Amino acid sequence: MKNILEVKNLTKKYRDGDIQVTALDNISFKLQEGHDLAILGPSGSGKTTLLQLAGGLDSMTEGDVIINGQSIKKLSDQEISDFRNKTMGFIFQMINLQSFLTAKENILVPMLILGTPKEEAEEKAKELLEQMNMINRANHLPSQLSGGEQQRIAVARALANNPKIIFADEPTGKLDKKNSELIIDILESLSREKGMSVVMITHDENIAKRFSRIIRLENGIAKKDSNLDNK
Ligand SMILES: Nc1ncnc2c1ncn2[C@@H]1O[C@H](COP(=O)(O)OP(=O)(O)O)[C@@H](O)[C@H]1O
Ligand SMILES: [Mg+2]
Repeated sequence: MKNILEVKNLTKKYRDGDIQVTALDNISFKLQEGHDLAILGPSGSGKTTLLQLAGGLDSMTEGDVIINGQSIKKLSDQEISDFRNKTMGFIFQMINLQSFLTAKENILVPMLILGTPKEEAEEKAKELLEQMNMINRANHLPSQLSGGEQQRIAVARALANNPKIIFADEPTGKLDKKNSELIIDILESLSREKGMSVVMITHDENIAKRFSRIIRLENGIAKKDSNLDNK
């Protein structure tokens, strides 16, 4: 089975004047295509840093991240943003929808950037709105939606270009229990039913347990990979 993600001896050091912080210390793991895993660790353990390096949003100090066979550090800034838009979907705790665009328009943006014909993009947006049970909110602005509804639109946006891999960084951090459950159910089903690879980042043990494998991060060190991958 093909690896969708390979994290190889990944190290990230931040330097602030004389002070150096090792946010990630020689992390390695692999994820097979269509599989899912949770990265579990307390605040400050390096979870967001790992996601930023994987998405080429920040540079690594040492090591590499290979996504769908492509070394991230070998890509130029322009190449990485194209590659990210085509191959990866991101969902964040801070939902960051465009406030002046409707729910549907927010979902259309990544497809139009990629040059998807308007009709095809409209069709896909509709399909995603239906999948998220949000079709009757298509023309609402983010400010007219609840937090849970906004996050469902953000999930739809992340899925718009049929990414190979979804990275979710504490996507339920700002949601109540019911809406958290709903988002986790959706993320779970992406891997179980749609063969998408999912990396769930969380500080919550109960959320992490819903995924097939758990990688524990502490002070930038991967402590243990509970390999329960039984797909
Ligand atoms: N831009 C930065 N400059 C300096 N230190 C940073 C920066 N970003 C994160 N850090 C530090 O790196 C460590 C890991 O942070 P982060 O990856 O955000 O952790 P988490 O997402 O698990 O809460 C923390 O000690 C944090 O203070
Ligand atoms: Mg974080």
